[in-house]
Amino acid sequence: MYRLARSSGSDLSLHQEHLAIARPRQGEVHWDSFEPAAYEPAALDEAAALWCTRAVQEMHSLALFTELAGQLHLLGAPLDWSGAFARMIADEVRHTDLCLRMCEALGRPASPEIDPAELHLLAAASPRSHVRQTIVAAFCIGETISGRMFRRALRATDVPLAREVVAAIVVDETFHGELGWELGALLMRRDGPQFDVERGELARRLPFLFRHFAGLCRVTGPPERARSEPHVDEGPNFGTLSDAGYACAFFDGMEEDVVPGLVAIGLPEAEPAYVELLRTLG
Ligand SMILES: [Fe+2]
Ligand SMILES: [Fe+2]
Repeated sequence: MYRLARSSGSDLSLHQEHLAIARPRQGEVHWDSFEPAAYEPAALDEAAALWCTRAVQEMHSLALFTELAGQLHLLGAPLDWSGAFARMIADEVRHTDLCLRMCEALGRPASPEIDPAELHLLAAASPRSHVRQTIVAAFCIGETISGRMFRRALRATDVPLAREVVAAIVVDETFHGELGWELGALLMRRDGPQFDVERGELARRLPFLFRHFAGLCRVTGPPERARSEPHVDEGPNFGTLSDAGYACAFFDGMEEDVVPGLVAIGLPEAEPAYVELLRTLG
């Protein structure tokens, strides 16, 4: 375990380089405009806990994309994949920084514990096929749903500082989701004798992946239930949704984007896998 700190020292050149990367690609965040005293301490505690958890998730994306970037040659990917990944790695650095900076602005600086063992998702892989699976899982499913979740959170957020931070993240996550489908479609082209085996492994993994992302989105019951409950909690909104709101982002994302998208790129097994997931949810 180690503690994730935001800075090695603000007077260092490396920190200045970092700030250049961490600046939003569009818009601006007015950190100094936030007045913590205007909010109840309990609301600030809750918001800081949310942004700290998000920092850990963003750090996981950063580690995963960095690892994937080092494996793209296994897929024989052209150089532009490396360029696109370099941007996404920078984006995830930015998101992790924004989350930690939100905690600071809320008056609750955080240095969350990170388990390095959880950051090495590609370690035990049969390389090529695993790289393919991870890209489809992380982008076509993960980033597509995360983009949806952040766009919904943006509509619900009424604390101005949090709106600016969520808006900065939305710009990037929307790009990640779109890029994911380009990568997914390119990956699903028959590119050698091992393609059918690798496609089959990926298709067999879909039920597991759907359950995994449902769990991350706090899905505990069928879509009808999530859709009938409030999607935001009471009180000032610092960039969050209710559990039902997250679950709805999952169901809508699956039904409108992920399942039809996977079918379109050559994974028709996505449909029965989603039907099976719904059946287990009751
Ligand atoms: Fe991110
Ligand atoms: Fe992302």
